Amino acid sequence: MKLENKVAIVTGGSGGIGQALCDRLAREGAKIVINYRSHPDEAQKVKQEIEQIGSEALIVRADLSKVREINNLVEEGINYFGKVDILVNNAGLEKRADFWDVTEEDYDLVLNVNLKAVFFSTQAVVRHFRETNNPGRIINISSVHEELPFPHFTAYCASKGGVKMITRNLAVELGSMGITINNVAPGAIATPINEKLLNNPEQLKKVTQNIPLGRLGEPEDVAGLVAFLASDEARYITGSTFYVDGGLLWNYQEQ
Ligand code: BGC
Repeated sequence: MKLENKVAIVTGGSGGIGQALCDRLAREGAKIVINYRSHPDEAQKVKQEIEQIGSEALIVRADLSKVREINNLVEEGINYFGKVDILVNNAGLEKRADFWDVTEEDYDLVLNVNLKAVFFSTQAVVRHFRETNNPGRIINISSVHEELPFPHFTAYCASKGGVKMITRNLAVELGSMGITINNVAPGAIATPINEKLLNNPEQLKKVTQNIPLGRLGEPEDVAGLVAFLASDEARYITGSTFYVDGGLLWNYQEQ
């Protein structure tokens, strides 16, 4: 197993891609700190799955838009398991609106969870990595939209573009400590973030036609890469973005 004796925090671990990440990291032997904000039952289900696999899990509720709660999440993980080795910044959300209608409230929510929380969660674990002399791993679940425009989702794109630069910057700043940081950038994955799309057959067909591999991704399609990046085998990889998008990003065809 790749992650035996490792402890991983997965933010937004109760649903969507996060749930598959918890499951996969646990299968590789990691103990998991499952963070959630509003779905305690789902978090409980993920914990049970992890225990069935034969690993251990701790559930910690935190609203990641508050730095105090982020610090508490990391502290609880360290207190319970004795250390943290891996942080997966997975929690994220998006709000669709025409640019001229975006409210301050929605802008703040998207930027707080998708960008500010990545910054401060990473800061909290890096402080711990330094104190314990641990060359830990940070993996951000970004998006193809750290690169690709997504009209009506400008705040979302700004947040993911910001995550891209956090990763590049910290790869340089933290490299001397052996700490690595990388982005995994999914395309269209069949999770609740895409609920509207999944319930709109016409739009779904259009999106699927734009994906060279001809289907939406599954959370499990993302999880294997995250497990690899969290492992010792990935020790020489830092500051990079890896797309898991069925080829969506580079597909332009003149019809
Ligand atoms: C967004 C999805 C979108 C996908 C591909 C993701 O980052 O969350 O809503 O379908 O990118 O455009």
